[in-house]
Amino acid sequence: MADEDWRDVGDAAALAAAPLQEVRIDRTAIALTCRDRTFHAISGVCNHAGGPLGQGTLEGDYVVCPWHNWKFHCQSGVGEPGFEEDRVPAYAVRVVDGRVQIDLASATARHKKPHAPHPLSRPVERVPGPVRLLGISTTGMDIAHPRYSGSDDLLATALAHAGSRGAATQLIRLAELSFRHCEGYYSKSARACTWPCSITQMDPGDQMERVYEGIVHWADIVMVATPIRWGVASSHYFKMVERLNCVQNQLTIRDRVLIKNKVASFIIVGGQDNVQGVAGQMLCFFSELGFLFPQLPYVAHSRGWSAEDMERNVAQVRDSAELHDGARALVDRSLDLAGHLLEGRLDATRERIERGGRKAHLLDVERAER
Ligand code: FES
Repeated sequence: MADEDWRDVGDAAALAAAPLQEVRIDRTAIALTCRDRTFHAISGVCNHAGGPLGQGTLEGDYVVCPWHNWKFHCQSGVGEPGFEEDRVPAYAVRVVDGRVQIDLASATARHKKPHAPHPLSRPVERVPGPVRLLGISTTGMDIAHPRYSGSDDLLATALAHAGSRGAATQLIRLAELSFRHCEGYYSKSARACTWPCSITQMDPGDQMERVYEGIVHWADIVMVATPIRWGVASSHYFKMVERLNCVQNQLTIRDRVLIKNKVASFIIVGGQDNVQGVAGQMLCFFSELGFLFPQLPYVAHSRGWSAEDMERNVAQVRDSAELHDGARALVDRSLDLAGHLLEGRLDATRERIERGGRKAHLLDVERAER
């Protein structure tokens, strides 16, 4: 290597203070490691989704990507055992007169092991068939000893009514699924929150996949039923919502609309109050996913702050013909809107959403100031 190929990246004593750090030569990001005063350098760009390897951690001989934990050997750039076909470039490093130098021209080849695309990543194309309603139960439930749930009861009434009107129906009970909490990849970088969800891609045992499949690929109508817990929707609901960030995030980072011409409606049942707060959150989140709403998009019941006789509340929901009629009417309104959308009488599809006023949009006036 000619001397002019070596590029100075800094003082060796200072750089030796961190086991792993990101250094840059022009526009090239490099993950520089140091152990026992020996330096190694590999590309700072992860093979998976471009995560910043130099901002990760050093685990033994491997640099661990901070986004989804892929590992690459700190000296050779080769993936961890079992993933050796995944390689990031490795660079020659030397120390001259107390300065660390890297030879960019020495880069070994990057090689990405072809990974079969995840089934969820297929194009979103509606398979022909009758209108499809997905019910999502979010109530907490001891599966082994199920008890009466008002929100589940009204959802069952809704699904039965949809079936009687010729719709295909499916019920997902979140309490029966085993899925991980969102692990906050979005907090590391918006681009680290991928579609399909990073957890789903990494963990075949994670059953959130059923929810993604149902919401994104299968349903024309999604009807979510929740109890009220301390003035908000159930913890299962929020666990699902956090994992649905990857669907919304496609709009933000790729202008990609996964939810098109789909309808959402809600059933909210609580012994205590705050129906409007719960409905407000649900409407806000599902509108951000791209769902449309029928006129009067939720039915709800709550007896209020001072009603602590929960047994009576349960009996009221179970025995109220009016509430069950209301659930059926919500199905009718949802089917009406879905019918318009499916038959093309109303097309709310937008391939591209104008970004002004949308989440994470940089205003033109701000851009001009930069
Ligand atoms: S593991 Fe590096 S970007 Fe996903």
